[in-house]
Amino acid sequence: MSKKSAKSVQRETPPGEAGSSPLRRVTINDLRRMKEQGEKIVMLTAYDYVTAQLIDQAGVPLILVGDSLGIVVLGYETTLPVTLEEMLHHVKAVGRGAQRAFVVADMPFMTYQVSAEQALLNAGRFLQEGTAQGVKLEGGEPMAPTVARLVEVGIPVMGHIGLTPQSVHQLGGYRVQGRTVEVARRLLNDARCLEQAGAFAIVLECVPAPLAAAITERVNVPTIGIGAGAGCDGQVQVLHDLLGLFTGFVPRHAKQYAQLAQIIRQAVETYRDEVQAGTFPTAEHAFGMEEAILREALAEE
Ligand code: KIV
Repeated sequence: MSKKSAKSVQRETPPGEAGSSPLRRVTINDLRRMKEQGEKIVMLTAYDYVTAQLIDQAGVPLILVGDSLGIVVLGYETTLPVTLEEMLHHVKAVGRGAQRAFVVADMPFMTYQVSAEQALLNAGRFLQEGTAQGVKLEGGEPMAPTVARLVEVGIPVMGHIGLTPQSVHQLGGYRVQGRTVEVARRLLNDARCLEQAGAFAIVLECVPAPLAAAITERVNVPTIGIGAGAGCDGQVQVLHDLLGLFTGFVPRHAKQYAQLAQIIRQAVETYRDEVQAGTFPTAEHAFGMEEAILREALAEE
C-alpha cells in the first residue's frame, strides 16, 4: 500500500469526507473519489474474523471474501466446488471483524449464472445474512444484464474480467488474458459493459499491464488489478499469498511480504518438542488450588 493511500484510509474519516464518525464505513463513493484523485485503492482478501480485524485495523479500505478460500482455506483444487453456504459462513465472520472496510462477497460458481433472479436472491443473502456491503461476480458483457438487475435493487456489484478462475476449464488453464487483438478488444468492451451496467469497480486479473492501463483510462469506475500491472486504480492480493501462508503454489503476480508458513511450522515444532520433553507447561501456565480442598476432595478415594 502506498504511504498516501494508507494515510487516507487510516485517518479518522474516509477519503474526502470531513467530520464523520471515526468508524464511518468506506463507501463506493469513496472508491470513485479515490480514482478521480489518483489515490491508489488497496484491496485484500480475508476469510475469517481475526484476519478481517487485522486488515481493517491496518487501514485497508476494501476487503474481498474471495472464493479463493476454496483453495487456500478449504483445500479444493479449484474454486468451482465452493458453495453459497460455505461462502456465507466466511462472509459472516469477516463481517464481524471489519468495522470500516467495504466488504465484498464473492459469488461462487453457479450461484448467479443461471438467471438474474437467481443472482438477486443469492446476492441478497450476502448483504442480508452475511452483512457484506457488496458482491463480486465473474464475467463481462454476458453478465451485464445481471449486474444491472442487482444494482437496480441496491446491491453494489464489483465486476471481474480477464482470467476468471471459475472458467478455468473453458480458458484451458490459469493463463494471461488479452494478448490477442480479439481478446484485448473483448476485455475493453467487457469493462465498458460492466461500467454501463453500474458496477462500482472491476477486477482485472492476469491482463497484460499496458492493456489494463488502457482499460483503466477508458472507464470511470475504479479498476483493481491482480497480475495486471501498476496502471490499475488499485491492487488486490490473496492474503495467504501475501503472508507466505499458502506454499502449494505461489503465482507470479503474488508478492510475499512475510513467510508465515515457516514461522508457524517452527512454532508448532517447538511446542511439540517441549510437550514431549515435559518442559511445557510450567507453573506459569497452570492453575493452583488450596491443598486442603484437594485433600478433602480426595479423602473418600
Ligand atoms: O477469489 C479471489 O480471491 C479473487 C481475487 C483473486 C480477485 O477473486
